[in-house]
Amino acid sequence: MKPQFFAYRSNATQLAFHKPTGTLTRSIANQADRSEKIRPPSIAESVAEITLQVGMEMTMGLWSWLFDQISKPSASAPRERAAGNVQVKGSAIATLEAPAVGSQGDEPSNEPASPPWWSPKAGALLSPLDAPTRQPAAETKFLENILVSHFDGHDVSIPSLHNVAERVLPKLGSKKCNLSEVAREIADDQVLSAVVLRTANSPMYRGVVKITSVQAAVTRIGIQALRTILLHQSLRKAVFPKQSASSQFAKVLWRKSLADAHVMQGLSKLVGMDEEEGHLIGLMHDIGSVMVLRILNDNIKTSHTALDLGSFEYLRRQTHQEFGELIANAWLLPPELTSLITDHHRFPETGDPLARFRLMLLLAEMIGSMLYLNEKQDYDLIHGRPAVNLGLANLSAYHNWLSELPAEIDQVLKESAA
Ligand SMILES: [Fe+2]
Ligand SMILES: [Fe+2]
Repeated sequence: MKPQFFAYRSNATQLAFHKPTGTLTRSIANQADRSEKIRPPSIAESVAEITLQVGMEMTMGLWSWLFDQISKPSASAPRERAAGNVQVKGSAIATLEAPAVGSQGDEPSNEPASPPWWSPKAGALLSPLDAPTRQPAAETKFLENILVSHFDGHDVSIPSLHNVAERVLPKLGSKKCNLSEVAREIADDQVLSAVVLRTANSPMYRGVVKITSVQAAVTRIGIQALRTILLHQSLRKAVFPKQSASSQFAKVLWRKSLADAHVMQGLSKLVGMDEEEGHLIGLMHDIGSVMVLRILNDNIKTSHTALDLGSFEYLRRQTHQEFGELIANAWLLPPELTSLITDHHRFPETGDPLARFRLMLLLAEMIGSMLYLNEKQDYDLIHGRPAVNLGLANLSAYHNWLSELPAEIDQVLKESAA
């Protein structure tokens, strides 16, 4: 049965720390009330709301530079983005297709087409598990020990849900959910109201009449979309706490979340899974990174140590799943989503009901490492185990999607920086 990621736990889980593997595992004391699977807004809608946030400036920074590097040979055609009719301007890659011959009279070019960016290269790795782990410097190792000492959740402040989400999410899980009451809570928050109105009037939900009241908007989009909006806002608040709004690492994390969400949504469509679920999983699966950021911020402030992006990425990678579990428990996230947040860096075992999502997350990591993560690594996206196991290797739709992906992600990140 397909898991429903949008049901929330009403009881806390118990954690057990297993020394040999250094991972936290759970025994779920009570599984939550299940409610209907929600249909969150499209990516375009999700990221477009960022432009409404007061005082947030997202410069392109390192990612922009990376994209500049890969965007020089621009060749693929723009594509209408499914949810938002957004035209992707230009492309970051060359494709295998023959160069377009323009109007009559143009001379066909004899130049051979460049291979697409995803064309397997010699020495490309077959899975993220094959990637070498760099040896950290002594200072980085010191910070790693500090992070590990916080795995038990003591002495560390876990980011809270958005204050409205904290009140409203439990109500949405109740069978007697009163949407008028929910609408009043949302109407008290300017940013949330704007996001809800925008979603209600987006192509996915748009009706004959344009909606201008939060009450009507809440009724139109429904409980499931509301949950996603509240969680999206909570993640954003966790990534950008007021005291470190200018942190370059926070910007990197946020952009990564948006790009991962886009990739997971696309992969979900290709393998016949729910696109909206895929989007939310991509957005949330590395949420533990925000606690890595917080703890490092505190320690760097007091020790006056500088931390480069490579070291931050090493520390994030070593510890974010454990911290993700702490946040997932504090936020009472659904068990399936919690499981993916806690454990998404390995190949699934036989019979794992979340096997496809785990494979998709591995593939998303491979794609991210080639396109938008700061730790670059060449992967074989065709013959690698995740693509093969998902049945994507020989699928032309997958190859086409890969070809268009850099331009799409570029667009998502540009929108997030608007
Ligand atoms: Fe991860
Ligand atoms: Fe990830």
